[in-house]
Amino acid sequence: MAKIGIAGASGYTGFELLRLLTNHPDAEIVFLTSETYQGKEISKVFPSISGFIDTKLSSIESVSSDTCDIVFLALPHTTSMEKVPDFLKGGTKVIDLSADYRLKDPAVFKEWYSIPHQQPALLKDAVYGLPEIHREKIKAARLVANPGCYPTSITLALAPVVTEDWADLSSIIVDSKSGISGAGRKASLNTQFSEVNEGVSAYNIAVHRHTPEIEQELSALAKTNVQISFSPHLVPMTRGMLSTVYINLKQDKSIENLIEHFQKFYAEEPFVRILPLGEYANSHFTLSSNFCDIGVHVDKRNRRAIITSAIDNLIKGASGQAVQNMNLMLGISETTGLNFPGIFP
Ligand SMILES: NC(=O)c1ccc[n+]([C@@H]2O[C@H](COP(=O)([O-])OP(=O)(O)OC[C@H]3O[C@@H](n4cnc5c(N)ncnc54)[C@H](OP(=O)(O)O)[C@@H]3O)[C@@H](O)[C@H]2O)c1
Repeated sequence: MAKIGIAGASGYTGFELLRLLTNHPDAEIVFLTSETYQGKEISKVFPSISGFIDTKLSSIESVSSDTCDIVFLALPHTTSMEKVPDFLKGGTKVIDLSADYRLKDPAVFKEWYSIPHQQPALLKDAVYGLPEIHREKIKAARLVANPGCYPTSITLALAPVVTEDWADLSSIIVDSKSGISGAGRKASLNTQFSEVNEGVSAYNIAVHRHTPEIEQELSALAKTNVQISFSPHLVPMTRGMLSTVYINLKQDKSIENLIEHFQKFYAEEPFVRILPLGEYANSHFTLSSNFCDIGVHVDKRNRRAIITSAIDNLIKGASGQAVQNMNLMLGISETTGLNFPGIFP
């Protein structure tokens, strides 16, 4: 039984970790942290967990990883950056859900996050936690940088294509829609009900901080520098994410041929489902599950592939993927605790 700590258990991804791990046969929760609710039982903060776990929340300053095999950090970025070295002490492994250890180049981090990285030496130890691409490295990692939600949906949609010489890598356009929980639980004007309900809005076009992370992974796959145009949108749903990705093809490809290519690429993947001909990814059908559904289409008139990719931002886009990584690091079956369908409606 692996002993687990969760820092940031009072947030959205922290709660999802807790929900998944209370139902995990090989995990035992040792500590949960929150500054706001320290001293309170977790079931008083999230009544839906009543009867499953009654651990009291502690301040992050009062916990140590001495008694843990793995610590999850579900903290805002820059907070994680400072805490990772403390939690890594004594052989404990860390899975960080923030963006702090995802970028390999500290100069790129500084450019996009406007502060210097405080632990640049640790960046080379961090493994980007997308199991479909980095499975073997994750198994041996002591620090996993869990991917962002947009990068998960987009990288999985593009990985089978950017690795091929028939794709025009200079032509990638990505349009993504996210539920509001992607912004976390903390209060802010932009995520208030009356600000988001009944409206769809674009934000951070061409400057979203997930852009360098997506480009880093696509460039590594393509073995050449890849740049994308990325337009994220907020839609009035609590959770879920849909990315629509456009890429020009250098030669004619039939839709049947492209679907077959995606099916082969992901043939062994337990959490990627390639949809049959004519079906579109739909965030309804990945809700509350660890699946990424991918629909493959070809616009013959423009010789362009159009790929739709749906995930639950809090599961495959965050905590489910983190548990998938934990399973790999523990050497147990990758699907343990995650092998369930989504909810509907
Ligand atoms: N939401 C998503 O869909 C999503 C997807 C992928 C990745 N992520 C990343 O995952 C991380 C957590 O996101 P979230 O959505 O769960 O955020 P959240 O709901 O705002 O939760 C943040 C958690 O961090 C704690 N915290 C905040 N400031 C802290 C500090 N200075 N010291 C110690 N603890 C502190 C909060 O505790 P108290 O406020 O109770 O003290 C809370 O438990 C972020 O880095 C985010 O970018 C989120």
